[in-house]
Amino acid sequence: MIPQHHSLNTIYNMQFILDQINPKEYEGNLIFLYGNDVADRTLPLSKKEIDYLKQRREADRHSIVAFDRLPYKLYVVNFDSEISANESQEHIRRSADKVVSMLKELKQHTAAVTGDGVIPEEVVAFMEGLVLSDYSFDRYLSKTPHHLSQLVVDSTFLTQEELDRSTRLWNRIFWCREWVNLPVADFNAEEFASELEEISQDLHIGCQVFDKRKIEALRMGGLLGVNKGSVDEPRFVVMEYKPANAVNQRPVALVGKGVMYDTGGLNIKPEDYMQEMKSDMAGAATMASVLFAAAENQLPVHLVALLPMTDNRPGFNAFAADDILTMYDGTTVEVVNTDAEGRLILADAIAYAVANYDPELVIDAATLTGAAIRAIGTYGIAAMQQRAENPFNLLKIMGTQVYERVAEFPFWSEYDELIKSDVADIKNCGIAQAGAITAGKFLAHFAKETPYIHLDIAGVAYFSKKQHYYGAGASGYGIRLLYAFLQTYDMTKSNRQ
Ligand code: BES
Ligand code: ZN
Ligand code: ZN
Repeated sequence: MIPQHHSLNTIYNMQFILDQINPKEYEGNLIFLYGNDVADRTLPLSKKEIDYLKQRREADRHSIVAFDRLPYKLYVVNFDSEISANESQEHIRRSADKVVSMLKELKQHTAAVTGDGVIPEEVVAFMEGLVLSDYSFDRYLSKTPHHLSQLVVDSTFLTQEELDRSTRLWNRIFWCREWVNLPVADFNAEEFASELEEISQDLHIGCQVFDKRKIEALRMGGLLGVNKGSVDEPRFVVMEYKPANAVNQRPVALVGKGVMYDTGGLNIKPEDYMQEMKSDMAGAATMASVLFAAAENQLPVHLVALLPMTDNRPGFNAFAADDILTMYDGTTVEVVNTDAEGRLILADAIAYAVANYDPELVIDAATLTGAAIRAIGTYGIAAMQQRAENPFNLLKIMGTQVYERVAEFPFWSEYDELIKSDVADIKNCGIAQAGAITAGKFLAHFAKETPYIHLDIAGVAYFSKKQHYYGAGASGYGIRLLYAFLQTYDMTKSNRQ
């Protein structure tokens, strides 16, 4: 089953309608955002009900209070506009997830959103939470589960253009989730690459797909090494979005790990460690989605996405520990463990970006290490940077703002010692300690002098258990972060130096 992006487009079939809403007259399910007491004047509630609401609000600043307005309901979503904007907006997104559950329980498909004493960002945060919560991976279900179909949004808070821009971004998050959720049997490197090629044509984005012959000609030893044990061919996809009004003269390179499935290879993953490894191409899916969203919303940033794709399998000719690979840039790598495969395919992509695009910044996203998860859990991205302090600071700020947070790990030179090899230039893993960092250091070797940011998304790309508005399964975590980063990238030149 090769997914058609045309059908992917219809995953998102929730319709938004901008309209004026008078809460006292509205007939239908109404969601009312209540940030402070001014809201009392607009609420269609009796004095007694308002007293009750306030009691509940006192007890829990983030409670959702439902009132019967038969045959409909009024949901008052409390939030605290006194705390920092990023935190209150995150509370709103998570409340939206709860409202979605409440509506689903009652088999409701439509609702309207308004509020009083709220700012547009808060309304958008609510819509974002609602839209992202409504997603589920339905493709293989005989019976499509419940979804919302229509949301009326009070036009006091945003314009059609603003709504359209947000909708495009959310749609791309859905593409990413869908790609990541697809099992490898139905979505291999070749299929992923042709999907991206087709979309690029529609969006008038430059796209090159390198097949195995071309990858061999380029001598990408990392990508070819990992691919040796697979029956499916590898692919290397390069997409470019170059707007006329770009703020950067040299591109920003977005590199994404596209391991379609990670069995571990000959160092095969034991017991239940293999499960969910269809998500090992989340980095590539993330970067493709970011580039598409940036292009569709015409952000003034010149971008190149470089996506190496293969699965990692223990086939008869699989690469083995002790092998020495010669990478695209000529670096030799001793393979210590075939399960540290992501860095091998990314190394070729980073080196290719640096040699062929002279980027001003390289960012990669990769489900790279279990060590990153052990270090900070599933609450953010383990991040590292080399010569990229200024853009990294901007990324950190944006991470706090959209609540897709980045935690900077140290990148001290001592860690370089841990990946030195006796028989090759470097080796593909270090010791048991600091595994997320030695993986980052391995990649940084290939960025050379170019400012470089590494995002290890292993903890956040795929949630085994439902994580509020990210749902269960593929999350698309990192897309809103990178989009917000690129949106503000032109703020000052100094961010980019
Ligand atoms: N894809 C995994 C990392 C991973 C683990 C992602 C769990 C998501 C959840 C990666 O290729 C891997 O296997 N890394 C090894 C590296 C080790 C062999 C040095 C790891 O983290 O154990
Ligand atoms: Zn692995
Ligand atoms: Zn992997």
